[in-house]
Amino acid sequence: MFSRLRDKNLRVQTPEEPLVTERVPRHVAIIMDGNGRWAKAHGMPRNEGHRQGKENLRRIVEACVEFGVQILTIYAFSTENWNRPPAEIGALMTILELVLDQEVEKLHKNGVQVRHIGTLEGVAPRLQEKIRLACDYTRNNTRLILNVAFNYGGRDEIVRAVRHIIEDGVPAQEVMEALINRYLFTGDLPDPDLIIRTSGELRVSNFLIWQGAYSEYYVTPTYWPDFDKDELRKALIAYSMRKRRFGRTDEQIESSES
Ligand code: FPP
Repeated sequence: MFSRLRDKNLRVQTPEEPLVTERVPRHVAIIMDGNGRWAKAHGMPRNEGHRQGKENLRRIVEACVEFGVQILTIYAFSTENWNRPPAEIGALMTILELVLDQEVEKLHKNGVQVRHIGTLEGVAPRLQEKIRLACDYTRNNTRLILNVAFNYGGRDEIVRAVRHIIEDGVPAQEVMEALINRYLFTGDLPDPDLIIRTSGELRVSNFLIWQGAYSEYYVTPTYWPDFDKDELRKALIAYSMRKRRFGRTDEQIESSES
């Protein structure tokens, strides 16, 4: 069932070639890290790194559509990012607003459904409104779900889910994994198959900590602004070579494949 990679040498394919794997992850999540270091390496201010990160996001969304990824979750702003200097927070908010102003129509035309996970508490009312409008405007699109984790934290998400479960008066014996899933921001979405982190840090950073329990991780030293279509292709090929066990033995997996 799990088709193996045809090109086992991880030959770098040209951008024009189709992706050489039949096993494309349905749900890819990305920790877009390294904008600041990219800027430093180029002798530029940090905010230029974020601006380049925004440009790259557009390219990666297009590549995901092309490669047949169905859901892309991106970590745009964490609950911990409020600890950054106010000027940088302001720049990140402005970039998100620009994305909403300039990209939503294009995303809509390309069949992309924009969703938001996280909380809008503490976010400027104008930005809240733009986020709601983008989600509403694109809600019937089916080509790719672009799930934007903005003002998101995995622990915060679980705390809010527990609170809602209690508020709804759910009896203790009915609290099961499937029920908790439904109360998370990701609700009806399948768990991420692949979580990519750019810029080499070996940390989860409070991202999809419940949903990522059985995700495959892929970490690359490449900074986010340089993580291009070919880098994504490499990550998808690496994923296609992984054997996902979900706690089972190799023998069990092989017999289920035959
Ligand atoms: C991490 O780089 C990146 C972020 C905190 C923000 C990600 C934002 C973008 C890619 C901009 C466009 C997207 C949206 C939707 C707002 P870092 O600053 O932590 O880099 P460093 O670790 O090298 O300092």
